[in-house]
Amino acid sequence: MSEKLWGGRFEKSTDEMINDFQASINFDKRLYREDIAGSIAHAKMLAKCGLISADDLQKIIAGLKKILAQIESGEFKFSAELEDIHMNIEKALTDDIGEAGGRLHTARSRNDQVALDMHMYVRRQIEEIQRLIINLQKTLVDAAEKHLGAIMPGYTHLQRAQPILFSHHLLAYFEMLQRDSDRFCGVYDRADIMPLGAGALAGTTLPIDRKFVASELDFDAIYLNSLDAVSDRDYILEFLSAASILMVHLSRFSEEIILWCSREFNFIELDDAHCTGSSMMPQKKNPDVPELIRGKTGRVIGHLMAMLTTVKALPLAYNKDLQEDKEGLFDAIDTIKFSLAVFAQIVAGMKIKAENMRRAVEEDFSNATDLADYLVKKGVPFRQAHEISGRLVHHCIERGIYLKDLTLDEFKNFSDKFDADIHEAIKPETCVNNRNSFGGTSTEQVKMQIAEARAWLKEVE
Ligand code: ARG
Repeated sequence: MSEKLWGGRFEKSTDEMINDFQASINFDKRLYREDIAGSIAHAKMLAKCGLISADDLQKIIAGLKKILAQIESGEFKFSAELEDIHMNIEKALTDDIGEAGGRLHTARSRNDQVALDMHMYVRRQIEEIQRLIINLQKTLVDAAEKHLGAIMPGYTHLQRAQPILFSHHLLAYFEMLQRDSDRFCGVYDRADIMPLGAGALAGTTLPIDRKFVASELDFDAIYLNSLDAVSDRDYILEFLSAASILMVHLSRFSEEIILWCSREFNFIELDDAHCTGSSMMPQKKNPDVPELIRGKTGRVIGHLMAMLTTVKALPLAYNKDLQEDKEGLFDAIDTIKFSLAVFAQIVAGMKIKAENMRRAVEEDFSNATDLADYLVKKGVPFRQAHEISGRLVHHCIERGIYLKDLTLDEFKNFSDKFDADIHEAIKPETCVNNRNSFGGTSTEQVKMQIAEARAWLKEVE
């Protein structure tokens, strides 16, 4: 006969293929720690409320701890017949301790149990993700500090636009990661609500104490509505959304790293240990890691779309569709954790080719705005200054030279406002350091960003 815990109402055992189809044990076994911690808290509450005896409680706790050790040592035998992590553990407990095990599920349903496990799991994962974000941020600040002198073209439309500090570019990603971290804090708050005690959907007839469970498991709040408690997957949607945005940031950065490694840019070189070769072309050193991160971004976004689509139009309360909240979430968690860790290595290991960056600044016209600003400071209206600078750029392009190659007399042919200080005014260092407006690319502003970043990192470390 079937070993199902809900077998009472059934005459036939479940079809084997159906069993495999609906079983979630292959993926939800990773919830074992949360499931056991949740069950221990639940059992303590049952004892406190007089629903089980102190003796039963001791047996349950000892039995669950034994199962925990068995799972961690790899001895535990999971069975698809028992569907999911909740019933695998409960069955093993009952087989071990007898009747007391059969009392554990008092005033509980798998619907609120799985919700509890998932809330706890998401909370724990967010803490780990926050550490990984901080680690990557630290790597970025270290690199920004180390390469403070490097000047590169800043781009718009992927055309050289204005000279910037390479460090300024790195720190832009620090800021994005900061917001990612904040977003995960928000998700944490919404995951930090305790669903247990909702029962299957409507609460329970038994005198339970939900506050006790919440405090045992360190939850900040309790769901006020039992239907909401078992049906809410908003925190998972939010998690996947925060994860997608994080991946989009890593993907944008990956794209730039890939470009910078190309012969065409040649701004950086990745460590040999972080690249792969080609089986055919002996000269190749490919930036596979950033390419893969860029590629995996699609997967994480896909999980968000899948979950939104799963929940859309789902009536209250629990429906088995909700079991589909797991694989995508778990995969997104694994993907972002791996990507963050690998990315930190890539950044820490990359070599900067500052001379090539500088050449890209010098052999172009990214100082044309500075030329116009120079005239503005001499009283020329900006529109007119823009026009004069544009004509100077055109003149240089025709002659195959750059602004720095023009003599003072040649400058004066375009405007009598040009003086001997013009060559100094359009040097890359001047262009960068003159952009000293708050948050700009000047060395002073970038140093301020580094100091702010360091202060924040110190606070969270
Ligand atoms: N494995 C199930 C899930 O992850 C647990 C809840 C099952 N509840 C039920 N009423 N069938 O969603």
